[in-house]
Amino acid sequence: NWSMDDFIDQQIQKIRDTVGDKKVLLGLSGGVDSSVVGVLLHKAIGTQLTSIFVDHGLLRKNEADQVMDSLKGKFGLNIIQVDAQKRFLDKLAGVSDPEKKRKIIGNEFIQVFNDEATKLNGIDFLAQGTLYTDVIESGTSTAQTIKSHHNVGGLPDDMQFKLIEPLRTLFKDEVRELGEKLGMPHDLVWRQPFPGPGLGIRVIGEVTEDKLQIVRDSDWVLRDEIAKNGLDEKIWQYFTVLPGIRSVGVMGDGRTYDYTIGIRAVTSIDGMTADFAQIPWDVLQKISTRIVNEVDHVNRVVYDITSKPPATIEWE
Ligand code: XMP
Repeated sequence: NWSMDDFIDQQIQKIRDTVGDKKVLLGLSGGVDSSVVGVLLHKAIGTQLTSIFVDHGLLRKNEADQVMDSLKGKFGLNIIQVDAQKRFLDKLAGVSDPEKKRKIIGNEFIQVFNDEATKLNGIDFLAQGTLYTDVIESGTSTAQTIKSHHNVGGLPDDMQFKLIEPLRTLFKDEVRELGEKLGMPHDLVWRQPFPGPGLGIRVIGEVTEDKLQIVRDSDWVLRDEIAKNGLDEKIWQYFTVLPGIRSVGVMGDGRTYDYTIGIRAVTSIDGMTADFAQIPWDVLQKISTRIVNEVDHVNRVVYDITSKPPATIEWE
């Protein structure tokens, strides 16, 4: 009879047996999987674990601080935080094609991680938050296939690590259960899915700091109202996008010519198909009013009422 408590004990023993007195490196993305791996490993081997958290500047408002406060502050993980916002923005300048943006963000993520990893000495193991679904999808028993940049890859040849993947027999909901059992905060464990390229694919077209700011601030308002109205665990994923079009509005005595924000909120089981969430009108009204009032350079808010298919969840 399988229980999560047994799983934790077994994994901790297994990690200790494997690692011995050697050192382990982990790439933290801010997401659930790598965070749970971090807390589990820390429980097993303490200071033999070093984590690198690459802040690419495409995270949601306060997200980097939350991750650091929780994992470093509460759980005591040794985390090297790399502020790489400028590196990513420089690389993204002038690029508007969604797949090119994804590729640049993914590659740069690996670059920044490698640059930091190279500075460390005496690391033998690399930990990854590979899940059972990743194992099935890659169709191999080894983790050669790196699905997204959440799972780092492409390290230089002279840095040969052995992999540690304690979640590779688990499904997502089991990872969440594990996180809760390890005492991780509920909102970190139940965080909605967030794409690796982050806000970089929610600014449609070219990514600039000004536009990121608008998406970050409007997303913050949306999340606040969704939570206040008790909808955060009913809606599978919810966020704002900046399509980059401007339109005419009126504020006070003046005419404005400013950006439109799109709200995307969907119900789904696995992200493969989705329906737009039927958020009550009064909540939408509050969100719209607050976004226009609280976010500079926005004078119009629209609600995306397409399902997937034919639309996708993200706009890029
Ligand atoms: P779409 O937009 O394809 O999204 O309907 C389905 C789910 O996948 C997420 N998504 C991504 N996740 N890297 C990721 O790690 C990506 O490039 C990416 N694109 C989309 C999306 O947020 C949704 O949960």
